[in-house]
Amino acid sequence: MREARATSAATGGKPLLQALRGVAVSPPPVWFMRQAGRYLPEYRQLRHQVPNFLELCLTPELAAEATLQPLRRYALDAAILFSDILVVPHALGQSVRFREGEGPVLAPIRGPLEAERLSLDDFAERVAPVFRTIERVASLVAAQTALIGFAGAPWTVATYMVEGGSSRDFAKVKAWAITDPAGFGALVGLLTEATIGYLQGQVAAGAEVVQLFDSWAGVLDETSFRRWVIEPTRRIVAALRERHPGLPIIGFPRGAGLMYRSYFLETGITALGLDTTVPPGIARKTLQSIGPVQGNLDPLLLVAGGEAMAAAVAAILDAFAGGPFIFNLGHGIVPETPPDHVARLIELVRHAAPVPQAVAR
Ligand code: CP3
Repeated sequence: MREARATSAATGGKPLLQALRGVAVSPPPVWFMRQAGRYLPEYRQLRHQVPNFLELCLTPELAAEATLQPLRRYALDAAILFSDILVVPHALGQSVRFREGEGPVLAPIRGPLEAERLSLDDFAERVAPVFRTIERVASLVAAQTALIGFAGAPWTVATYMVEGGSSRDFAKVKAWAITDPAGFGALVGLLTEATIGYLQGQVAAGAEVVQLFDSWAGVLDETSFRRWVIEPTRRIVAALRERHPGLPIIGFPRGAGLMYRSYFLETGITALGLDTTVPPGIARKTLQSIGPVQGNLDPLLLVAGGEAMAAAVAAILDAFAGGPFIFNLGHGIVPETPPDHVARLIELVRHAAPVPQAVAR
């Protein structure tokens, strides 16, 4: 189905894992954040079989099916577990619901008293179906396809838990972090511990790579970014590596801007996910010089398709494809995306002229 690639043939192994080891794979491996989801008609059909979204995430047969749907259509280099970052607050005992067209609705935690009701007691049991999903997918994916597990990073998950859902200004979670850093720190500490166990379980079940989604990393000032983004991430990475040395970990601190470099250098992650706003030419010098990068086509260019998309893909490949690189979007696929554009995008990445690696970078 897929053509063999020179670098992979020479050194063996899955293209995604090679790129994560620092190899400039040509053409680069490609997968997409939110590659399963509402833009696919077969997903919408699956979604209708369950009354609520969390049930889809926690029913291994259905979640495995959702994970595999995009791989049946497209020659992707990775399967990403179908689940959601809000499975973790649910497993800690918080009420989490998804309302059609409204996004997630959580019973908000506004201080230490409400946080005290959260507990790790039933956590392992409640997330166990996710591990069953991974085992199932691992037994079904093609040999060249890598299996990615994931979790939300503590700061981003805490924003949903404290705000009670999505937020415009993060006023409540910031107010708590500023006025009571010890109390808020206890919540972040609990999430850090839960996330370590959750990702260890995913790796034990067959995930070969894990990605930490810190979707709201970009809303913090420098001091807060170090405390609530870098520090918990560093602890998660260290704990995972203790049990699984060499585990590739992708960090995606969306919107981190000038903090991307500190995040990459200080957390110990293997590869850095770049959001749409990061300029490829600059990132090649300042970030890809540290290690593998992933990204960063604007998901709205994928909706548009055509020449605008092709030009942006060429610019991204021109900047990054001579070094260790994973092609992805700068954020998740949106529901309005025409599935044909995804096929076209993969073709563009696969058939681009190889970027010489010997030229001065
Ligand atoms: O990438 C994949 O294909 C794996 C599946 C995946 C989902 N959510 C499925 C999903 C992943 C990796 C996520 C991560 C996630 N979830 C993030 C981090 C990435 C990002 O987008 O910033 C965040 C912040 C969430 C929380 C979340 N889940 C929100 C805010 C929403 C509502 C908005 C929306 O897109 O609907 C969800 C719901 C959700 N998660 C859906 C899917 C397919 C849609 C729900 C449905 O089908 O009814």
